[in-house]
Amino acid sequence: MTKPTVFITRIIPNPGLILLNEHFPPEGIAQSALEIWPHDLPPTRTQLIEHARGADGLLCLLTDKIDGDLMDAIGPQLKIISNFAVGVDNIDVSAATARGIPVGNTPGVLTDATADQAFALMMSAGRRINEAERFLRAGNWVTWQPSLLLGADFAGATLGIIGFGRIGQAVAKRAQGFDMRVLYYSPNAQPAYGAQSVDLDTLVRESDFISVHVPFKPETRHLVNADFLAKMKPNAVLVNTARGGVLDQTALYNALKSNQIFAAALDVTDPEPLPMDSPLLELENCVIVPHLGSASKKTRDMMSLLAAQNLIAGLKGERLPNCVNPEIYTS
Ligand code: GLV
Repeated sequence: MTKPTVFITRIIPNPGLILLNEHFPPEGIAQSALEIWPHDLPPTRTQLIEHARGADGLLCLLTDKIDGDLMDAIGPQLKIISNFAVGVDNIDVSAATARGIPVGNTPGVLTDATADQAFALMMSAGRRINEAERFLRAGNWVTWQPSLLLGADFAGATLGIIGFGRIGQAVAKRAQGFDMRVLYYSPNAQPAYGAQSVDLDTLVRESDFISVHVPFKPETRHLVNADFLAKMKPNAVLVNTARGGVLDQTALYNALKSNQIFAAALDVTDPEPLPMDSPLLELENCVIVPHLGSASKKTRDMMSLLAAQNLIAGLKGERLPNCVNPEIYTS
């Protein structure tokens, strides 16, 4: 039997690598069977093709764009694409399905970390934490002042959650502890944690805080646009921990600059990294961090395990524990 070969597009946390090493003990595989891209920056498309060509398995990151042409360039032996992320918008899943290739992702293990991040950003933007720290570091703290850097109240405020899947619900759970009224918009999702289902228009008009938790698809591109922002309350805070493309950044800049809304906090941008000349970086009322939703030690360890488990199952021809295109098993 020929030995499977695998290309991993970045060094992932140890638990996943340990599992892979156990599965592919050095004596059991050819020297080149498990190649890990060792650099901090992702491989370019050309480098990815060069290194993955002939591989049976690919473990990739959200920074790697995996389309049908790339799958073909890797070769018809490709059996599994395992993404080190829950979102799979970097992968052309239909192209994988058409080629009978299962695509794995890492759901569940990052729910709490991402909900924590959404809440942290909501509080940072609402209570102006980053702006206040810049103020202090610039030497502007001369005395306590009754009206210095006043922010938003959380108790009694309305939080609107767009996308009431695992992460959206975990945000609602946190909001209960803050005595917030929670609305959600998510066709087909059941109510949970005291949240009330409403249409999108009602959510946008009534919320003091809006947190976005939808996957990035053609239908969700620029869901938050000038029209959406114009309906928001002037005191409202917008939080995006989903994907940058869900939001029209030019429209957001205009809304923040003109104080049409109070503040925004972005964990994700379009493109990533955000160019340093982005006008959003000029704004005091916009918190921006570099896509860190799942960035806790335990979460990233668990993501590496799930990604490795998917990869191993795919190489063995078994059903992936977490597969985004399970229809390949029935067709
Ligand atoms: C991170 O953004 C993920 O999709 O896992």
